[in-house]
Amino acid sequence: MKPATGIIDESKDLRDKIKTMLHDRKAILLAHNYQRPEVQDIADLCGDSLELSIKTSQTDAEVIVFCGVHFMAETASILCPDKKVLLPVFDAGCPMADMITAEELRKKKAALSTGQNVVVISYVNTTADVKAETDICCTSANVIQVAKSVDPSHQIFMTPDKNLAQYAIKHTGRNIIYWEGFCPVHNNLTVEQVRKAKSIHPEAPFLAHPECPPEILELADEVKSTSGMIAYAGSSESREFIIGTEIGMLHPLSKANPDKLFFPADPGMICNDMKKIGLGEILTALQTMQPEVKVPREIREKAKGAVDRMLAIPST
Ligand code: 13P
Ligand code: SF4
Repeated sequence: MKPATGIIDESKDLRDKIKTMLHDRKAILLAHNYQRPEVQDIADLCGDSLELSIKTSQTDAEVIVFCGVHFMAETASILCPDKKVLLPVFDAGCPMADMITAEELRKKKAALSTGQNVVVISYVNTTADVKAETDICCTSANVIQVAKSVDPSHQIFMTPDKNLAQYAIKHTGRNIIYWEGFCPVHNNLTVEQVRKAKSIHPEAPFLAHPECPPEILELADEVKSTSGMIAYAGSSESREFIIGTEIGMLHPLSKANPDKLFFPADPGMICNDMKKIGLGEILTALQTMQPEVKVPREIREKAKGAVDRMLAIPST
């Protein structure tokens, strides 16, 4: 369609085609809060990892177009083996999820299991193979409840995020042994950057994601998952906030709170993998029904137990 200016709005054309294809394919489009704004704006649901997993487990759509990274599409495939799960850019991955393999986890479990019961908690940011070796998964939104659900006589091993594990230790008092993985985007945030942002915006509470290092969380007014930040900003009296997570969050925060201001703690907090999917890739995926993410049955059945146990935790 040609607007009065004569300039062709290609993105509107793309959006219309995507909506038609979603309808024709009986598909649902899910997007993580870090996705590009134009992708979030066309999604049926945007959310954090936990919300997206819950939505996946409940949808009656036949096709799930997952705009996120590979482990998220795998989780959708684990929860919905009969549905087609499309990840519009197949190599959109998570560097943290790749920091531990199933073989490394098996070796770690064997080393820890002498004379004690070990319970493995894996962040959802793990491969399906690692989830298959896991007792219970967690996300940034429920890590504390999940850790508290473990029998106190058992030793917890948490993987892969050392920062999330230390956050869980602090808030549960549990002795948690953890893998030394990390999210490169969050782990690079420095105390100096946060102090500088606070000095420029002295009235703004600092909201940090639990993937940030402990010294950053010490400076935080609130530690929240991505969707937890949206809920907090909505109910807070404050008019402006400093955001300590991937900068894609500024879009859903501003959209949900148009009268408030959000400043990045570090504008360099960009997850390149979360930016790989655009409207063109979504349309192509719907037209070709590729690239598909499908977790093999033997892995899926083992991994599903860990995801289901997480989803059964109260208040999550
Ligand atoms: P949440 O959206 O679950 O807080 O997770 C952040 C993240 O890093 C996803 O990759
Ligand atoms: Fe992985 Fe970090 Fe990117 Fe999230 S922000 S997908 S944890 S690298």
